[in-house]
Amino acid sequence: MYLYNARYIKMHADVEVDCHVLVIGSGGAGARAALEASQYGKTVLVSRTLTGKGGCTPMAEGGYNAVLRNADSCPMHVADTLRGGAYLNDPALVDILVRESPERMADLIRWGAVFDVTDSREIAQRPFGGQQFPRTCYAGDRTGHEIMATLVEQLRSRDIEQLQETTVIELLLDGGRVCGAAMLDRNGGLLLCRADATVLATGGGTRVYDISTNCAAGTGDGFALGYRAGAELIDMEMVQFHPTGAVYPYNARGRLITEAVRGEGGLLLNAEGERFMHRYDPERMELSTRDVVARAIATEILEGRGTPHNGVYLDVSHLPAPTIEERLPIMLEQFLAFGVDIRKEPMEVAPTAHHIMGGLRITPSGQTTVPGLFACGEVAGGVHGANRLGGNALADTQVFGKRAGESAGRAAKQSGAIPISAIGAIGARLERFRAGSVPPIAIIETLRRAMWDGAGIFRTEASLTTAGETVASLKTRTPQARTDRNLAECCTVENMLEVAGLIVRGALLRRESRGAHVRKDVRTAWEPAQSPYGHTFQSRSGEGIEQREVAA
Ligand code: FUM
Repeated sequence: MYLYNARYIKMHADVEVDCHVLVIGSGGAGARAALEASQYGKTVLVSRTLTGKGGCTPMAEGGYNAVLRNADSCPMHVADTLRGGAYLNDPALVDILVRESPERMADLIRWGAVFDVTDSREIAQRPFGGQQFPRTCYAGDRTGHEIMATLVEQLRSRDIEQLQETTVIELLLDGGRVCGAAMLDRNGGLLLCRADATVLATGGGTRVYDISTNCAAGTGDGFALGYRAGAELIDMEMVQFHPTGAVYPYNARGRLITEAVRGEGGLLLNAEGERFMHRYDPERMELSTRDVVARAIATEILEGRGTPHNGVYLDVSHLPAPTIEERLPIMLEQFLAFGVDIRKEPMEVAPTAHHIMGGLRITPSGQTTVPGLFACGEVAGGVHGANRLGGNALADTQVFGKRAGESAGRAAKQSGAIPISAIGAIGARLERFRAGSVPPIAIIETLRRAMWDGAGIFRTEASLTTAGETVASLKTRTPQARTDRNLAECCTVENMLEVAGLIVRGALLRRESRGAHVRKDVRTAWEPAQSPYGHTFQSRSGEGIEQREVAA
């Protein structure tokens, strides 16, 4: 039993850990950050589930973008990423992503990752949406799994302490500096960790939506932790809806159907058998950017040309069966389990919440706006602008994971103890959950429906306001921890509400349609490159939208 008093908590925390670098999140970005940081001093890697099992990286199917061929170039990859991101990306971060992605892929190969190769033994690449050159490297349709397995092997060979099934519930502050974190183990036991530098690598948060590709841990905790610690977040309204998620069976709703299906030649057809993309992007068709394809599919469905399960068809039955078996084995296996043989019949798909492009504002070295706190991977904003290109996320995890880990590793040693003031209200928060009255799932389900209805692919001021009101009302309800094992879930519920609020407020601030953010109630008269708006920003000290000079 933990009491309210901060001094008592400090004395009675089950465990107190001290390290040089604390990395929170053990997906692709966190694992890469920990590998790098461990070269500089004691590194602790915290994982809400089991290392390598929980994050979204192992679920990333399609690929990793890297410039590898003479016919491709870094300027082309940069141009594709900026155009795909509707020019909201931070150009310095894009430049780093593109330049360093091949080197980080070489690290993975050196560590044993096996990517598919061509007949001439070169790394194979496939086209993904929005690319001028097919630059997506892959391991069948389990690329993220291959990368994660490789990173986990490396983690095992290094001196990195791993805290598994442990949930960070608060970042600890010493003055204005992050000095570690408070966590709960799987039984609800409290751990305090002091660190010279802390890296947030908690991934995304589209589990705040009813239908999502994200793993169960994709609840956005890192955005909320950073926000509460005083960090500035940018562009939180930029939520990517992946065009192709499963629509049935019910419990598979939203599951990722990789873009590689379209990269390999898959066709999108409406219920009338029409290849409808010619009406939305006649040049790039199925390989347009995700924002365009997701809107096209949603429009077909809304206008009554959807399939029996409220999706559209994604068809590869014209491809040779061996191509499907070799390049898309997981898709084949998954649909066979649903009773559909994709070698002979089409899949049914519809958009699903996939990725948050916004996040903690970072410098090229991964430094957030709060001293002592670094961020990398999906929890960081700015790399992908208003819409991410498929295949750029895995590259992002490796490039910025390494950078954040190195910067944290190089951080100066701090003096040795967690101040009592840092523990602040943690005890009272946990007691509040013990006395709570609402089952967490009731709050989560209402939240997810409200976000899907009000802050989805198409938004208006009215729909966003309604979603915001639901979030505000849910914030007044206290989730109940029936046992100490449920305390972490209650913290996550509060984090989800915080993240949903950030998305909605960002979406209200941005009175334009751009990339993944479509305000149906606002008519914009500019091309994205000419938008007078920059990033939306939100922190505890204020929020707004940046104004930009635009050429006449
Ligand atoms: O469609 C996919 O395979 C997803 C890839 C990504 O989000 O980068």
